[in-house]
Amino acid sequence: MIRVRKCVFPVAGMGSRFLPATKASPKEMMPVVDKPLIQYAVEEAVAAGMTDMIFITGRNKRTIEDHFDKAYEVEAELAARGKLDLLELVQGIVPKHVNCIYIRQPETLGLGHAVLCAEPVVNDEPFAVILADDLIDGVPPVLKQMAQVYAEHQCSVLGVEEVPRANTAQYGIVKTDGGDPAAVSAIVEKPQPKDAPSTLAVVGRYILNPRIFHHLAGVRAGAGGEIQLTDGIAALLHEEKVLAYRFKGVRYDCGSKLGYLRATVAYGKKHPEVGADFSAYLKSL
Ligand code: G1P
Repeated sequence: MIRVRKCVFPVAGMGSRFLPATKASPKEMMPVVDKPLIQYAVEEAVAAGMTDMIFITGRNKRTIEDHFDKAYEVEAELAARGKLDLLELVQGIVPKHVNCIYIRQPETLGLGHAVLCAEPVVNDEPFAVILADDLIDGVPPVLKQMAQVYAEHQCSVLGVEEVPRANTAQYGIVKTDGGDPAAVSAIVEKPQPKDAPSTLAVVGRYILNPRIFHHLAGVRAGAGGEIQLTDGIAALLHEEKVLAYRFKGVRYDCGSKLGYLRATVAYGKKHPEVGADFSAYLKSL
């Protein structure tokens, strides 16, 4: 049985919805309480048993590499001041058995193109994709749920959830046979509500068979003039089974201001250090 070991994080995007916060620093480094979005994503991949983290980066993304690297000055300073809890926190961001690999995407040509940039490292193995914007609070973590589905069915798995029909133009939308997990019969990128084949949206979690690379290499610019992962999956569907899995968990769209604020409230309320006080504060408002 093939196990999924590699996880791709497309992080080259500009983050224009959060300007000016994202003018000089990556949107993936925006914190929810005290951890950047990309760290939540990496922790989810590690919890799902992945060992190789492949970041598809671009200009202005150096702080992501620094975040997952050794920080000599910070560590020396914390050790000198005897702040051992914090030292442990900083040193334990990625477990020792996990590799971080960085690939530059020279131009942001779309999510499909970003995923294709990972091919030389992924090679001929199934792999996961996490979009760090979609922060999902799931027990067990959503990618772990999906890895179990993959282990059982050995085919590509898309994380999906119902969205209001008015919002279909923000997502890849699937048509399925109605089971759970359900076989996908069609997928379209950002259809208008009247054209959407359903209201089941793909969120930022994928496990894909490597055959997707062959299709992505042939995909032309689609919705928004970009090379879309959705179009590659649509082509893959003609050859292989693809499953849509309704994950168990709450998703926060941290690519939008409102979603980000909701995530901050939800994670703030359950934070071990400030959760109780923050909840009391919210009640007092
Ligand atoms: C991307 C995908 C889309 C998916 C969405 C989930 O869109 O292209 O199919 O539904 O992520 O967040 P983006 O949000 O990058 O425009």
